[in-house]
Amino acid sequence: MLVLSKTARIFSKPRKREVRGFLRSINFRPGTLFLHKLVLGIETSCDDTAAAVVDDTGNVLGEAIHSQTEVHLKAGGIIPPVAQQLHKENIQRIVEDALSASRISPSELSAVATTIKPGLALSLGVGLSFSLQLVNQLKKPFIPIHHMEAHALTIRLTHKVEFPFIVLLISGGHCLLALVQGVSDFLLLGKSLDIAPGDMLDKVARRLSLIKHPECSTMSGGRAIEHLAKQGNRWLFDINPPMQNAKNCDFSFTGLQHITDKIIMQKEREEGVEKGQILSSAADIAAAVQHITACHLAKRTHRAILFCKQKNLLSQTNAVLVVSGGVASNLYIRRALEIVANATQCTLLCPPPRLCTDNGIMIAWNGIERLRAGLGILHDVEGIRYEPKNLSK
Ligand code: KG4
Ligand code: ZN
Repeated sequence: MLVLSKTARIFSKPRKREVRGFLRSINFRPGTLFLHKLVLGIETSCDDTAAAVVDDTGNVLGEAIHSQTEVHLKAGGIIPPVAQQLHKENIQRIVEDALSASRISPSELSAVATTIKPGLALSLGVGLSFSLQLVNQLKKPFIPIHHMEAHALTIRLTHKVEFPFIVLLISGGHCLLALVQGVSDFLLLGKSLDIAPGDMLDKVARRLSLIKHPECSTMSGGRAIEHLAKQGNRWLFDINPPMQNAKNCDFSFTGLQHITDKIIMQKEREEGVEKGQILSSAADIAAAVQHITACHLAKRTHRAILFCKQKNLLSQTNAVLVVSGGVASNLYIRRALEIVANATQCTLLCPPPRLCTDNGIMIAWNGIERLRAGLGILHDVEGIRYEPKNLSK
């Protein structure tokens, strides 16, 4: 249970600091006096407790993050009550750290933005209840954030990108292709019919026991696969990309996971290795899975771009393809998507890797985008709920 009195103590800052922060938030330009908007973003949808303060020019004033990856790696997957407990233990400190790194007083915030969907119910609940106490205490507006919208809009923080653009969001929980036409105007073009690519890579990494591999023991499954794949031969296994004949832009990864499981079992027999031990062919398997994943993502994205161009929804010569989410930090997958972008006269843009995975900056920035567009800014939080599942997930 979060303790409000403790929150109140932490969020009352000395006056001197308020004045300094206020002066910093003003931009003097000849003939103008411009007051920046500042948003505190809070993210707890899965296994990262993250917070950041961002201003309306895209300046990141401060951020803090607590990752639970190592705990869940050891447990063999995310256990929601464990994630909830860790969020509860860390959220106060993380928000406090982000605010103190930004050197502003909470009273200078224009709003608090928090992920309320989609995600793990128990995790979302911690971020939301903390945020609601905070906005009530500070008397600030609240901006509920859709986690995928935040991933999609991050690129506008790091690059000058106008609407519309195509976005491919690939992470541990999500896989979707959408045409982004405005801050909250998304045309869904395709989604995974089963699991997300990051989830599949995590499962393959677990089946390969990569946590026991000396080079990968602290890496997420996807990162471990990318790391090992560099040492492997992707051609040693004959795997067909999924959904080759499907005339849509949807994805599927369960089949690839099952084929890989079979290959691993066969290799365990051939090498005389017990389940749970590292195969000598682990790097080759990682390379093959990564390659097929990249091919599948590239082919579906290619279809989506051609569709949008054919319907004149995207510029013929000047379109932008944005790839984000944890799996987008994979450089092999990025290269495959670069080939697609070049072939369709698109520019491929990816946020830097630390902004591809879950973070508080993207939530704060989504808050700024919504503030600027005047969309979904709540002055009364009565009845606000988190929504673990969402259709566009
Ligand atoms: O966006 P994210 O931090 O969290 C959500 O799932 O929303 O993404 C985490 C996922 C995990 O499945 C992780 O294995 C995957 O992104 N990932 C990667 C890489 N780094 C993280 N997958 C492939 N290659 C990587 N380098
Ligand atoms: Zn995410």
